[in-house]
Amino acid sequence: MSSAQQVRRGRFITLEGIDGAGKSTHLAFIRDWLANRDVDAAFTREPGGTPLGEKIRELLLAPDTVVSLDAEALLAFAGRQQHISEVIEPALAAGRWLVSDRFTDSTYAFQGGGRGVPFERIRALEEWVQRGLQPDLTLLFDLPLEVAAGRMSGTRQLDRFEQEAADFHQRARDAYLRRAAAEPQRFAVLDASRGIDEIQADIATHLRHLLERR
Ligand SMILES: Nc1ncnc2c1ncn2[C@@H]1O[C@H](COP(=O)(O)OP(=O)(O)O)[C@@H](O)[C@H]1O
Ligand SMILES: [Mg+2]
Repeated sequence: MSSAQQVRRGRFITLEGIDGAGKSTHLAFIRDWLANRDVDAAFTREPGGTPLGEKIRELLLAPDTVVSLDAEALLAFAGRQQHISEVIEPALAAGRWLVSDRFTDSTYAFQGGGRGVPFERIRALEEWVQRGLQPDLTLLFDLPLEVAAGRMSGTRQLDRFEQEAADFHQRARDAYLRRAAAEPQRFAVLDASRGIDEIQADIATHLRHLLERR
């Protein structure tokens, strides 16, 4: 055994799904679940996660932002590069788990499926920015749009994506499901139309597998 103990790399978990799917709700559950098992974990989000990324988030979500299709995709990946180099990679290298509310599958879903940016362009940016980095586990909260919309009550002003018509969100959902079908080893697709307890029992099963994986 060497004196300089190798730090075991942390695990990278991403949460995906259309608005109202339950990502924020289940992120809180994951936080408690990992804390109860003394797993050192950090929690972050996209767009955002760094000072630069949060500024980009504001631009991307503001209802009055005028941005072209490609510029929107490039901004998403500019923020992602900063997020990876400043937060994600250092955390994983130090052995921490990193849980992100949205990551690259959101770009495939919203800019790709929703807006029609060709997947090959997104893939080129993904390779440039991530250099092989991929989540160990992606939890996709899948549910019909009407159910998600019904859960998003309240008086908060809708952001630039939430304001999009139903067919935009339907294309995003479809793109997510195609991503999941193409990478079944990374994705866990959870029926998010169920009750919270049922969904979280499934999440716990996936977390347990990840914890036990060598
Ligand atoms: N399985 C569920 N059943 C009923 N309500 C839910 C469920 N999951 C989430 N919610 C509620 O739906 C709303 C949207 O959930 P949220 O976690 O904010 O979604 P997201 O972060 O994916 O947009 C919240 O009010 C939340 O309490
Ligand atoms: Mg949320």
